[in-house]
Amino acid sequence: MSRYYLTTAIDYVNSRPHLGTAYEKVTADVIARYKRLAGFDVHFLMGNDEHSQNVYKKAVEEGLHNNPVGYCDRMEAEFTAVWKALHCSYDDFIRTTQPRHKAAVQKLAQAAHDAGDIYEGVYEGWYCVSCEAFKPDKDLVDGKCPVHPTLTPEWIREKNYFFRLSKYRDRLMKHFEAQPSFLEPEIRRNEILRLLDAGLEDISMSRAGQSWGVPLPFDPDSVVYVWFDALINYATAVGYGTDEARFATWWPADLHIIGKDITRFHTVVWPAMLWSAGIEVPRQVFGHGWLHYGGQRMSKSLGTSVDPMEAAAPKFAPDAGPDPIRLYLTKEITYGSDGDFTWERFEERYNVDLANNLGNLVSRVVSMADKYRGGRIAAAGDGGRLAGVAGEALARYRRSMDAFALHDGVAAAYGLVDATNGFIADSAPWKLAKDPANAARLDAVLFEAAEAVRVAAVLLQPVMPSSCAEILRRIGAPVTGDALRLDHAAWQSAGERATIPGPPMWPRSVPPGDLQLAGPAPEVKIQPAKEKSVDDKSPAAPVAEAAPAPPAGERIGIEDFLKVELKVAKVREASAMPKSKKLIRLLVDVGEPEPRTILAGIAEGYQPEQLVGKTIVIVANLKPRPMMGTESNGMVLAASGPGQPPILVAADDSLPPGTRVG
Ligand code: MSP
Repeated sequence: MSRYYLTTAIDYVNSRPHLGTAYEKVTADVIARYKRLAGFDVHFLMGNDEHSQNVYKKAVEEGLHNNPVGYCDRMEAEFTAVWKALHCSYDDFIRTTQPRHKAAVQKLAQAAHDAGDIYEGVYEGWYCVSCEAFKPDKDLVDGKCPVHPTLTPEWIREKNYFFRLSKYRDRLMKHFEAQPSFLEPEIRRNEILRLLDAGLEDISMSRAGQSWGVPLPFDPDSVVYVWFDALINYATAVGYGTDEARFATWWPADLHIIGKDITRFHTVVWPAMLWSAGIEVPRQVFGHGWLHYGGQRMSKSLGTSVDPMEAAAPKFAPDAGPDPIRLYLTKEITYGSDGDFTWERFEERYNVDLANNLGNLVSRVVSMADKYRGGRIAAAGDGGRLAGVAGEALARYRRSMDAFALHDGVAAAYGLVDATNGFIADSAPWKLAKDPANAARLDAVLFEAAEAVRVAAVLLQPVMPSSCAEILRRIGAPVTGDALRLDHAAWQSAGERATIPGPPMWPRSVPPGDLQLAGPAPEVKIQPAKEKSVDDKSPAAPVAEAAPAPPAGERIGIEDFLKVELKVAKVREASAMPKSKKLIRLLVDVGEPEPRTILAGIAEGYQPEQLVGKTIVIVANLKPRPMMGTESNGMVLAASGPGQPPILVAADDSLPPGTRVG
């Protein structure tokens, strides 16, 4: 089995992770899970960067100047609790204060020294503690570090050991030329090529007068500069300095996932360090974009940071777990570019992608199987149109995921979900179920829909592992966890499925603010409708008889409005009602196992045949109402000016039937 070793940046532990740092870990986890699904033996590394001055300062502030490692221990627990809540499936978690790392750092520093690449000198200049980087004047804007504009850089003058980075410029340029995929995406590669063009200076690789760090093997009065130390973590974790056989097995790393701000360290400094020590360089580095909050840089001090724990249990769907935020971070942001998060947008996407779209599809397939076939879907037919769509989705998914276009991989899977919703609407299983002569066709439709859901769940598994395991269980294809492989995404035309019904996987959220308003609701009396009340003299759009409407201009509370369930519906059939000038009998798809019949008083505005295919809005929770010998199950929304024919309230065609309006 081919091996795949991938890593994330290791985090400074002077503060808890925010959703920006979590973005990196979640997307790396999606790649790790995708590679496992694709059959690789994956080693996925995450960890903490502890030898930073800010970390030491924080430990001192907390009274732990004698025990900074104790502070780091506490932060490790906080970080790993967040990563576990987000279902990050790392295989190893490294900390730079571990003895294995000290051994690796000293070995590599000594090797570079032995190669003649380290010499003693004096550094005089600016240092940004938050970047932990030496800053030449040209990199400052108005005397401030552009990444940390609220802080003033420190002026330092100290004995440093320097690393001969300049020596490796030509080799780096050749490497970038020979391996264009070494740094992705292209925009990041171009930044580094410009930097190389401008020439490279040697860099400090040690700090004097500090005790927090790994002592230099050739001068224990100095410690290794935190970046020189941190980069080595990737080698440490697979045995460099402690287990050479293991190192030989796993090195070079296949992929470093890092933020766009630290590409220079990873694709210029790190390869040079490795070459100096006679080690191969990693195969690939991907520099992702930054996640912003409402268009602003995510920062604790600016109050624009989002707690990933809250995102993994959002107020609007507290029991949904981390899958909705994992989906948001992967699907809504082009991987490699910057992205944005707001709670409003997160809730909106939850409702559209999960509650209305995927969740509704799963419920629909399972409840139809239950209703028409007692929960057993027999293999039938040769796959039909969805088999082709699934094959194309799989090919696009593979291409995209292999190129780290994670957003496009998810879009491919969602294309299959949309096609399956459309297929159910077009094949109308509820109609087929009415006539036993259609039994074989009904079997084929149910199987085809269930199989397409299964394939979509396999493809979405790296993004939403728990939910996809649950979908597979419900549709009776329970291959999960490590046993699940991308090969399973191939269309299968055989095997009976025993479906398992369950509550909605992603109930639609209550709009923000309503929870506070939802005290004891005032009683609204809906009178039982009388058949004779609806006839040709009734108003154009039939209105349920209800408690008297509040006088014009009087406002109702949100709790009254929330009682009305407005939903998107698609008109499947329409016919004139015999003996009625105003009523049309509609058969509408509201995303339920069967379409509903609604009698609508819109005949003065429409011919029945004009209505078929329209996407409209209905009141879905009206009590069924007998009218002219037919039971009407809901009410369409229509507008009509005085003396004007009614015009239906239309909804966007892209909205799947059953989508909540309001
Ligand atoms: N400790 C160094 C990395 C050493 S790797 C050998 C570091 N730490 S950090 O805590 O500042 O950042 C960790 C990672 O989080 C970096 O890849 C950084 O780019 C990323 N991000 C920090 N804020 C981010 C966002 N707002 N959005 C996306 N990623 C962000 O740098």
